[in-house]
Amino acid sequence: MSQKTITRPAWQDPTSENEILAKIKEFDDANIHYFESKELGFPGTPPLPICQQVYSDYVGAHANNIGMHTNPRPDTSEYGFEGSQQAEREVIGMCADLMDASPDEVGGYISPGGTEANIVGCWIGRNRSKGRTAIVGSFLTHYSIVKAADLLGIGAKPQSDGSGLHLVGTDSNGHINLEHLWRVLLDLARLGLRHFIVIGNAGTTMLGSVDDIPGMCEVISRLEHEYPTAVVHLHVDAAFGGFVIPFLEKYKSRRIGFSNPRVDSVTVDLHKMGQTPYGSGVIMARREQFKNVFTLAPYVRGGDSTLCGSRGGVIAFSCWAAMKFLGRTGYEKEALERVRDANTTRQMLTEAGLSVFENDTNIVAVRGEFPLSKKLMDKVFITHAQEDFPADMSNPAGREFQTVWKVVVMPHMDIDTTIKAFLDARNA
Ligand SMILES: Cc1ncc(COP(=O)(O)O)c(C=O)c1O
Repeated sequence: MSQKTITRPAWQDPTSENEILAKIKEFDDANIHYFESKELGFPGTPPLPICQQVYSDYVGAHANNIGMHTNPRPDTSEYGFEGSQQAEREVIGMCADLMDASPDEVGGYISPGGTEANIVGCWIGRNRSKGRTAIVGSFLTHYSIVKAADLLGIGAKPQSDGSGLHLVGTDSNGHINLEHLWRVLLDLARLGLRHFIVIGNAGTTMLGSVDDIPGMCEVISRLEHEYPTAVVHLHVDAAFGGFVIPFLEKYKSRRIGFSNPRVDSVTVDLHKMGQTPYGSGVIMARREQFKNVFTLAPYVRGGDSTLCGSRGGVIAFSCWAAMKFLGRTGYEKEALERVRDANTTRQMLTEAGLSVFENDTNIVAVRGEFPLSKKLMDKVFITHAQEDFPADMSNPAGREFQTVWKVVVMPHMDIDTTIKAFLDARNA
């Protein structure tokens, strides 16, 4: 039998520290650096300096926050890391507060990001009942829900028996069409489905638009009234908007979180507008709901209701530091300033003749091709242009498309410089 030849990468022998550091510098030089760049479209911003300090001071301690630590009895958590478990418990408590729940009402954990948080939200919902399940949300729902639908065996597309993922239309500014949602749920219930996961978006990735969550709760209550055996799980994806929407006047009377009794689980990302290092999403659910995803772990005291297993305790420390450093009022100030900057951005782009969506949050989305060269889009004013965005947003299954691109106004951005540079480049 002939031996397979494998190409071995250059790591067989140790590399000197100097060489390593030089190479890492080279890797890093190939990245953008938020403060120096003119990038337009990332929901990323450097972690607060206090987070960076805590991270570098404690990464070496290598605490493992495996398991979930918001159990009513904290002594059921894994041995050895009580400190970072307590920090995480307090982070979840502060996030619960942001979503209008007191810490004893909801459980949760710091996940690697919004994707896992959304998958777990759907996993909890899927395990609440047996039988055919449908996930329903607007077409602006983040693609992590597509992954969830696939992984959970629900189906990433509508299935012939009614199960699967169903994406409904929105109004012209990206808010779920409640009538369309009702019609789809009703049609599926008439097909015999009794198990639904409904996704409410509180800050869509592309438009930053905020669904009418109380309105969605009313639709769900109506369905439950007509079909009393229906089990409906409402998951709110506030990965982007979680640290913005709660502070905006417009949403003080239309809250997105647990003050709606029909909201079951919520995703919030700290590593976006929470200004913490990557690896910090948060999933929260009403306490009893986590029983649906509990796994008895042979070697972890208290078992595990998370998806990912081992998790860095240093992330809990960094998140705790950020949240305590800014406090609720600090995040409020940040959110209001960024939305004000987004409104100015919208005005500047509109005056320059671009067709801009109305913005609910600090994402400003623009209809049409990105008006500069592809090279400038990819290398300088980095942003995402979605070419298959439905032309008619009320009918996402339609066959006509438009291009949409976006500006995400993050804390490090100086819009006077960045938007002006973009407009100057456009006029050049
Ligand atoms: C609305 C929304 N949900 C979920 C995610 C996924 O988050 P992550 O990239 O942290 O997994 C994103 C990412 O941009 C998002 O915008």
